[in-house]
Amino acid sequence: MSKEAQNLYPMHALLIRRWSPRAFRSDNIPEEKLRTLFEAARWSASGGNQQPWRFILGTNGDESFSKILDSLDDGNRSWAQNAPVLVLSVGKKTQNRNDRPNSSYRYDLGQAVAHLSIQATEEGLYVHQMGGFNPDLCRQAFSIPPDFDPITVFAVGFLGDPSQLEGNNRIRETEPRQRMAFDEFVFSGTFGQPSSLFP
Ligand SMILES: Cc1cc2nc3c(=O)[nH]c(=O)nc-3n(C[C@H](O)[C@H](O)[C@H](O)COP(=O)(O)O)c2cc1C
Repeated sequence: MSKEAQNLYPMHALLIRRWSPRAFRSDNIPEEKLRTLFEAARWSASGGNQQPWRFILGTNGDESFSKILDSLDDGNRSWAQNAPVLVLSVGKKTQNRNDRPNSSYRYDLGQAVAHLSIQATEEGLYVHQMGGFNPDLCRQAFSIPPDFDPITVFAVGFLGDPSQLEGNNRIRETEPRQRMAFDEFVFSGTFGQPSSLFP
């Protein structure tokens, strides 16, 4: 079974290897590897270099992990409870210089998590992002101020075995990954008109 990307054109090996598993080994992640992940996030690009990303780190067994886990939808909690690390990503909605809205805060936060995910692959780790959680619970549990929004939770860990999972999650863990064709998302001329770059 390989979950690697079935890319049609050459691509960096880290991008080929990255995917979002649900089965994680319980092994702890060495602290130097975790530091490296957040270093990768730190050097991401952002609108006006505002760096609107914030992260709350939970390590399996500690209070932050429990709070993040409690906020997850049931389906996500069923597998994420075995991950060694859960992280809550939080975006700063306002500009650093004034209280005006920062229109790119979600974009920038997502980009930082993308950086982190690719660095994780380099470290032999995997990241699984989740939108299925309750942001209000997280806001309360972590006293998140009003100008910040909880955006996603992500699990990080070493790859586990699909047999750890049950039911549909086990099936999904080994299913081929699907992607749109290029003519569905690379356009020229008008919106929706496929680019001739991909004949
Ligand atoms: C913003 C965001 C929210 C997501 N929410 C969930 C989620 O709640 N539960 C889940 O199992 N996967 C979630 N995913 C993972 C996606 O389903 C996964 O990235 C997608 O199917 C592509 O698979 P791949 O990452 O293995 O290439 C989310 C991913 C992103 C980027």
